[in-house]
Amino acid sequence: MRDITANRQLSGFAARYINALSLISLHHKSGIVLQNTGLVIEVSCPGLYLSQLCEILPSLAGTERILCQVIGFKEDRTLIMSYKKAAGITFGCKVVALDMFAHTPVGKGYIGRVVDAFGIALDDQGAIEADTFMPIHREPINPLHRNAINDVFETGIKAIDTTLTLGKGQRMGLFAGSGVGKSTLLAAICHRSQSKQQINIIALVGERGREVHEFVHETLGAEGMKNSVVIAATAEQPPLIRAQAVYSAVAMAEYFSEQGFEVLLIVDSMTRFAMALREIGLAAGEPPTMRGYTSSVLSALPAIIERCGNFANRASITGIFSVLTEGDEQNDPVAETLKAILDGHIVLSSALAQREHYPAIDITRSVSRLFGRLSNVSQKAAVKSVRNVLVRYEENRTLLEMGLAENKDTQTLRKQYQSCCLFLQQVKDEHFTHSDSLALLATLLKECQHD
Ligand SMILES: Nc1ncnc2c1ncn2[C@@H]1O[C@H](COP(=O)(O)OP(=O)(O)OP(=O)(O)O)[C@@H](O)[C@H]1O
Ligand SMILES: [Mg+2]
Repeated sequence: MRDITANRQLSGFAARYINALSLISLHHKSGIVLQNTGLVIEVSCPGLYLSQLCEILPSLAGTERILCQVIGFKEDRTLIMSYKKAAGITFGCKVVALDMFAHTPVGKGYIGRVVDAFGIALDDQGAIEADTFMPIHREPINPLHRNAINDVFETGIKAIDTTLTLGKGQRMGLFAGSGVGKSTLLAAICHRSQSKQQINIIALVGERGREVHEFVHETLGAEGMKNSVVIAATAEQPPLIRAQAVYSAVAMAEYFSEQGFEVLLIVDSMTRFAMALREIGLAAGEPPTMRGYTSSVLSALPAIIERCGNFANRASITGIFSVLTEGDEQNDPVAETLKAILDGHIVLSSALAQREHYPAIDITRSVSRLFGRLSNVSQKAAVKSVRNVLVRYEENRTLLEMGLAENKDTQTLRKQYQSCCLFLQQVKDEHFTHSDSLALLATLLKECQHD
């Protein structure tokens, strides 16, 4: 970490961390650089493990040590990748193993802060004192250490709380194309959590720097930041760092869950996380499968999702993972894999966004697998009626909008559809409690029955 933190002001704690790192490495395995092929550096350094950290000592005078991670093996060589654009690396540079795997600093000091993938402040509010360090990769959780999900997770968004009710510890996908309102919706859900003992951990992966600034200062705003930690790795950063931002966010979520905070973990987007892993996998020589994704990418996705849930011995981690779709999800292995392993998906529709219907949730294509468990009989009946109206209207949209085949039934359907759309829309800063949303749903049902 010496190298990564070198250009920024180090807190006393970070400096101690770096010192601690060198102390941990009591016995250094070492080797030399044999080849540098762009992203991947081949070294002779036997005895290293996959994901272990190591450092290259560049030959140029005045250059910092370069932190790297082992990403694979090729015959008698170890393949490593650096955490930054590597300058000063040449054949024969010394490589020294660190006897550790990637960790991330965590602590209550991170609440309200924007940090990079290593927990270093990006927000000019000074260095952050960490409480401890957490490994970013952990063993899978024993399935018997999980509890059933019985408590509703209130999002404050009417359309979700009534038709796609979420539970604490649920893992949900947010599937949408670009510019359809993902960030706005995610920020609105974070705002809702202000009054509760909830921490939002938000990983922004592969975005442009401008987008991160906009999200933190405008979309989420000072209010939304109060209970949140934002971990950002922008698009131009090396793939190891983009992937690490997600792993660090999960580790941070686990820390707060162990401290008794209910956590909302948001990853925006899992697609860009998968793309970063694809770059690493391909560079390590893994064979590509559909769309170039390697098999390690598709197994890394469930490993992240499974770290969320409702646990027996600590507070829940609810996960919302955005997935970029451009209308051909069937051919996108990331979207397909995530759909299969998540506990439901919220689909945002560009057609709705074009009609200024916000949040642009297409409830006929969305599903919460815990809706049955978390809703009562009258809610189920009302939601069934709403879905029915939306489906019937969509099937006859052309006729209805051209005013063809006008009769009492089409007039009723049009009216019911308008009422449903009005109910499902919500302006940006508006929030509803779960019970208010259910009361409005009941009123909507009465209106539809009356028509
Ligand atoms: N609830 C809303 N109310 C009004 N306008 C909205 C709402 N949600 C989104 N928008 C409009 O859509 C635009 C894009 O929203 P947003 O940035 O949230 O989309 P995104 O899906 O995150 O985009 P990207 O793919 O670029 O990350 C906003 O600038 C705003 O104009
Ligand atoms: Mg966005």
